[in-house]
Amino acid sequence: MFKIFVYKTYDEVSQKAFEILKDIIKVDHPITLGLATGSSPVGLYARLVEDHIKNKTSYAHVTTYNLDEYVGLPKGHLQSYLTFMNQHLFDYIDCPRNQIHMPEVHVDDLKAAADAYSAAVLTAKPDVQVLGIGSNGHIGFNEPGTSFSSTTHVVGLKEETRLDNARFFSGLDEVPRYAVSMGITEIMSAKKIVLIATGNKKALAVKEMIHGKIREEVPCTILQKHQDVVLILDEEAARLLND
Ligand code: GLP
Repeated sequence: MFKIFVYKTYDEVSQKAFEILKDIIKVDHPITLGLATGSSPVGLYARLVEDHIKNKTSYAHVTTYNLDEYVGLPKGHLQSYLTFMNQHLFDYIDCPRNQIHMPEVHVDDLKAAADAYSAAVLTAKPDVQVLGIGSNGHIGFNEPGTSFSSTTHVVGLKEETRLDNARFFSGLDEVPRYAVSMGITEIMSAKKIVLIATGNKKALAVKEMIHGKIREEVPCTILQKHQDVVLILDEEAARLLND
């Protein structure tokens, strides 16, 4: 089931996402967050950091699992998703480092590491999964055609995804060709999903997600089967919804 919120500005979108996350974080029992990278959640993370500094909201009881990580970048690379998360969130909050998890990519056996990651996420059952969406409808790095029964796995990135992400690198050649991503199974296991999408480029994927036939060619359509998805959109991303 989708609850849809549409706002004019990215600031308002981020504020709404922040309010939802803050209510989940401000409890006195252990909780698990599934987190995403990309530009969509940047405003959300900025607000979480600001709130931590101003209001001392604590993350001592929080465990995190990120959706995905590139394969092939050296440890500490500026564009690795761990660096991204450190720069936008982890370096500024009091979440213990041993409670922060990214898919393991600096190991010999990627498959075994992916299976272990999957088991850990499915056991933790994230209280909320933050999501962005790719312009081709991917979630995490689950590209079109990914099985709906997939678990954490190594992914070959589609050309359009590499092109979308090339802006963060010095050129398309620098963009990794592989990543490890949570599968659809782990994403769907979250108790709640908060998906942020802004800008014209996301409009078609957003329309498909809500009104499209549920099919593996458009991974985000599986979200129609989740019981609690909050979509936070700007007007550009929502522009095809009433057609
Ligand atoms: C990447 C990430 C996704 C993200 C998507 C959209 O492919 N792996 O998790 O949702 O980009 O990114 P952005 O938010 O920058 O548009």
